[in-house]
Amino acid sequence: MDLAAHVDDRSPRGIAATVARLVRGGDLRPGDRLPTVRVLSAELGVSPATVSGAWQALAAVGIVTSRGRAGTVVLPPPASWLPPRYRDLAGGAPARLDLSSGTPDPELLPLLGPALARVAVQMPSADSGAYLSSPVVPALEALLRESWPFAPQRITVVDGALDAISRTLERVAGYGSRVAVENPGFPPLFDLLDQLGLERVPVTLDRQGMRPAELQDALQSGAKVVVVQPRAQNPTAVSMTATRARELAGVLRRHEAIVIEDDHSGEIASARDVSLGVFLPDRVVHVRSYSKSHGPDLRIAAVGGPATVLDALVARRMLGPGWTSRLLQHVLVDLLTDSTAVESVANARRVYFARRRTLREALTTHGVVVDPGDGINLWLPVHDERTALLRLEAAGIRVAPGAPFRADLTPSDHVRVTVGLVDREIDDVARTLALAGAS
Ligand SMILES: Cc1ncc(COP(=O)(O)O)c(C=O)c1O
Repeated sequence: MDLAAHVDDRSPRGIAATVARLVRGGDLRPGDRLPTVRVLSAELGVSPATVSGAWQALAAVGIVTSRGRAGTVVLPPPASWLPPRYRDLAGGAPARLDLSSGTPDPELLPLLGPALARVAVQMPSADSGAYLSSPVVPALEALLRESWPFAPQRITVVDGALDAISRTLERVAGYGSRVAVENPGFPPLFDLLDQLGLERVPVTLDRQGMRPAELQDALQSGAKVVVVQPRAQNPTAVSMTATRARELAGVLRRHEAIVIEDDHSGEIASARDVSLGVFLPDRVVHVRSYSKSHGPDLRIAAVGGPATVLDALVARRMLGPGWTSRLLQHVLVDLLTDSTAVESVANARRVYFARRRTLREALTTHGVVVDPGDGINLWLPVHDERTALLRLEAAGIRVAPGAPFRADLTPSDHVRVTVGLVDREIDDVARTLALAGAS
């Protein structure tokens, strides 16, 4: 293709726009190599800096990438509906064994069919209009209050943990506010903070949860909100101990920050449901997702906390999704009370625990020692992240890169492995993981 012939505006912007148009129109295809800076600048009669400025602009928006001596090539179209770190996690070639997803094993979810059938018969026909009296089905609210780790002023249901977290942040953190986050932590949370114009203040963890001294520093630096995963922290698998919760509450008492607890693993976590809300009930918004225990497509999380936050959250949702499907709420009530469904979730918890322990023990025999942890993810130390990912790809295993989990953008020396999905050939998988992470 004679690129120079298509360029009528010879500024960096004009050259970049020409390439972008040709890519969109299919004249330039993924993998095509662009002319070198030297060749194109000579053809156009412009300086090399002009062309390289255009290439940089195109690389910044993900249309091309520089492959060093191999030149600048056109990238496949990104799934642009995904936020940036989500995209980093979702990209990549399909694999024989995909341990990158962080999602539950579909085989271990309770069956929805029987619950849907029962609800279809039992749900009162007037119920779908009842949202104005209460957005939460009363039977569900009662079950939530019984099992909540503290007595919240308000409790409601939303469409997933991030629905609760994003709306709480919008309510309690103004543009430019500082938010203390776990490092490493959940990549979509970092994307969300970027979108809302909130500044991350990273806090590292030890085996018991957030380090109190670092939380103290973060609060001292002005953090107004703290987002913490109390159990099965994604990616490290750490659960906050009761002792640590007490220490962190002690630190928080000296400041005014609001705490958002993201109990994303809910009922499949084996650790206790420890919450800072026990100590600071009027400052803790506790979120419990049912995605991993009962199914990501129920899209239900419960959220409980102070009325000042929760009432505004419910009011705001009335102008968006409205309320969370009462049909699905009734399905959740059924799943939380039907003995077969309850046993199925308890079984999932035991199976995840066993899979994690077996894989950990196998890793130990191959020289890799990791903490016991909880939930479906394991944070695997590796000598070099890129090498490990390439070795695993060659062995047909996909894991999540560690870099998107870094709150401070430093290079990662770990990858995240969804061990909850490893149900066979455990020793083989452990050996491959260990070899991939070796120097
Ligand atoms: C830490 C964390 N928070 C939130 C979520 C999302 O939960 P939900 O499906 O309820 O939006 C996940 C899902 O993996 C998670 O790992």
